[in-house]
Amino acid sequence: INIELPHEQAQMEAAQKLKIGLYFATWWALNVVFNIYNKKVLNAFPYPWLTSTLSLAAGSLMMLISWATRIAEAPKVDLNFWKALLPVAVAHTIGHVAATVSMSKVAVSFTHIIKSGEPAFSVLVSSLMLGESFPMPVYLSLIPIIGGCALAAVTELNFNMTGFMGAMVSNLAFVFRNIFSKKGMKGMSVSGMNYYACLSMMSLLILTPFAIAVEGPKIWAAGWQTAVSQIGPNFVWWVVAQSVFYHLYNQVSYMSLDQISPLTFSIGNTMKRICVIVSSILIFHNPVQPINALGAAIAILGTFLYSQAKQ
Ligand code: 3PG
Repeated sequence: INIELPHEQAQMEAAQKLKIGLYFATWWALNVVFNIYNKKVLNAFPYPWLTSTLSLAAGSLMMLISWATRIAEAPKVDLNFWKALLPVAVAHTIGHVAATVSMSKVAVSFTHIIKSGEPAFSVLVSSLMLGESFPMPVYLSLIPIIGGCALAAVTELNFNMTGFMGAMVSNLAFVFRNIFSKKGMKGMSVSGMNYYACLSMMSLLILTPFAIAVEGPKIWAAGWQTAVSQIGPNFVWWVVAQSVFYHLYNQVSYMSLDQISPLTFSIGNTMKRICVIVSSILIFHNPVQPINALGAAIAILGTFLYSQAKQ
């Protein structure tokens, strides 16, 4: 039976679709810019612990200024909010620094190909650790995801174990981040933008001592001088760009998460990775063998099959 929607409802639905479409396009564009500047910085200044910290610091500062000047309204949060946020922030910090360490060792495209396997981690963690079970097609969709990632990894010309493991650890950490944030967000009335702002601040506090312990100011000062002498004063702007764009893309992604289901979000995230993989290969002229590209394509196709199966 063909029931026509009332005109107003149809209009509202179209407006909502347009809004989400705009969020997605903005999220992907900001993410592509972040990935490019992040890699440009890491090529000249291979200290991912500092660049990860600066990304969180830029976001925290931008949000504090926005709250102080009332560009954005500060959230009303209590101790329970921060307690619930702690495991999310630990997982976010690990996932972020691990991805950045990975990108400092391998091509951006390679990190994102491995990161397109995140749904496989999600299913494995949920089944093995949380005792959840899924319909058979969901498990079957893991075959192309894992197989495609494995094929891309073994045929990667510039394979590096730290780069590979960083992306794998990031996948695992982000699965936990998503599980914890789902639990932590329940019953809280904080917007996606403010939730991400608080997450940045807490992650910054967690990451800073580790960044100092792993790399430290002496190494940073020497590395900074070398980078500025090689690149020139523009290097500072690259660092600013990677930091600011990191915050912006995450903020927009959390704002869209507010409006959509986690499943739609994960489909959007995979499409984002396609944009990043293609643009970074074009910009950095990474050599890609056909078999390597095939692996990436199979993994991404697997992610789409996974989202279909989960639906
Ligand atoms: C990071 O630095 O946190 C990673 O680039 C994040 O990756 P994602 O947001 O694309 O999962």
